[in-house]
Amino acid sequence: MSFPKDFLWGGAISANQAEGAYNLDGRGLSIQEYMSKGAFAHLDTSVEADNLKLDGIDFYHRFKEDIALFAEMGFKVLRFSIAWSRIFPNGDELEPNELGLQFYDQVIDECLKYGIEPLVTLSHYETPYYLTNQLDGWLDRKLVNYFENYCRTVFQRYQHKVTYWLTFNEINALWNFPLLGAGIKTPKEKLTKQDFYQIAHHELVASARAVKIGHEINPNFKIGNMVLGIYNYPMTANPIDTIAKLEADKNLNYFLDVQARGKYPNWIHNEWRKYGVEVKMEEDDEEVLSHSVDFISFSYYMSRAVSATPELYQSTNGNLSKVLKNPYLSQTEWGWEIDPNGLQILLQTLYEKYQLPLFIVENGIGAIDKVEKDETGLHIHDQYRIDYLNNHLSAVERAIVEGVEVLGYTMWGCIDLVSASTAEMKKRYGFIYVDRDDNGEGTLDRIRKDSFYWYKEVIDSNGRNIK
Ligand code: BG6
Repeated sequence: MSFPKDFLWGGAISANQAEGAYNLDGRGLSIQEYMSKGAFAHLDTSVEADNLKLDGIDFYHRFKEDIALFAEMGFKVLRFSIAWSRIFPNGDELEPNELGLQFYDQVIDECLKYGIEPLVTLSHYETPYYLTNQLDGWLDRKLVNYFENYCRTVFQRYQHKVTYWLTFNEINALWNFPLLGAGIKTPKEKLTKQDFYQIAHHELVASARAVKIGHEINPNFKIGNMVLGIYNYPMTANPIDTIAKLEADKNLNYFLDVQARGKYPNWIHNEWRKYGVEVKMEEDDEEVLSHSVDFISFSYYMSRAVSATPELYQSTNGNLSKVLKNPYLSQTEWGWEIDPNGLQILLQTLYEKYQLPLFIVENGIGAIDKVEKDETGLHIHDQYRIDYLNNHLSAVERAIVEGVEVLGYTMWGCIDLVSASTAEMKKRYGFIYVDRDDNGEGTLDRIRKDSFYWYKEVIDSNGRNIK
């Protein structure tokens, strides 16, 4: 048997894609309410917030039903995010919104009732809108203190209930989507290298401070970082393609090297020098950064072929970026390349490099599901999802056999939710179908898909049914 007996099997969602109820019980607006459908790269403040993006799947009111379904599959862990603006509506208040905390009290208690370990993301593309509008998000150093206050509040509140925490979701999304990743209002093209590295520094310090104070509050906390995980292949054996691959690796390494090792490595100092950047630091920043993470977590949807001459190749869609078409891989309906081997390679590479436990906190396939009716009820025969997940889990198993320490696996969008990049409902990831369409119509009823029963068996057998 390859999967360790305490392997954390489960699923993942985020507040902004699942909860809905964006204006209830004192929640403040987040950047998400100002991102229109399919245009998540910039704010759209021309329309009232409630005319914009689809508003989740009403997890806010249905979390008991949903968590019961997760428990039926045997989940050992549920990854969800706390919406910062539910706790601090503008982000900069000193006192928290008690009603916001009470909501998460209930979600966490409901998980614990079934023995499901909560895995809490502190910031999942949900910067409070006020901080973006007034301060340009993480470009302003003040956010480090505001974030600390927020983290301290939830750490203290849940210190006896939550062990696993993640700081920033896909922190490296900053490079391509500064609004989504770091709540930056200034359009990307107007940001300088100095700005980018300064924003990254603020987030890195904030993340390390969270690790530091989290461990002070409860030394048993396990606090991880979270990166958008992609494995880069050189397109050909021409050495210049491997040089291009090493360059592309920096997207991820910039954050991993600091968060996992507790300091900026030489190559980053050289990078700053090369671009004439001087990152402004405060006196204790170096000490704070030394508080490295307990484990590394990442999302994995695809690999990426990299070339020194990209103009020679066709491209296709990727997770938050275009990628060159890899002739050896097939694609999802949204053009994302499918590469289970890439997951094994990424796991082995990261483990070899950082020697820290790894946690796959997102993986899955966005697909169009068809609801079919027969005399026994409604069905969704999603064999394509079972195949995708089976092949990726088999890759995880191979990495474990190679000695990689993997803490767990939370399948992304374990219940259908609103897509982050396209704001669609029809791009479905879940084991559980939610009756809602792209116009917001539907009963919101939940239906178990074929993959629901398959995943239940995976968990029951601790992965023995994976082929
Ligand atoms: C990750 C995000 O980038 O990918 C999730 O952390 C997101 O929030 C997921 O939903 C899948 O992307 P999409 O665009 O298909 O929803």
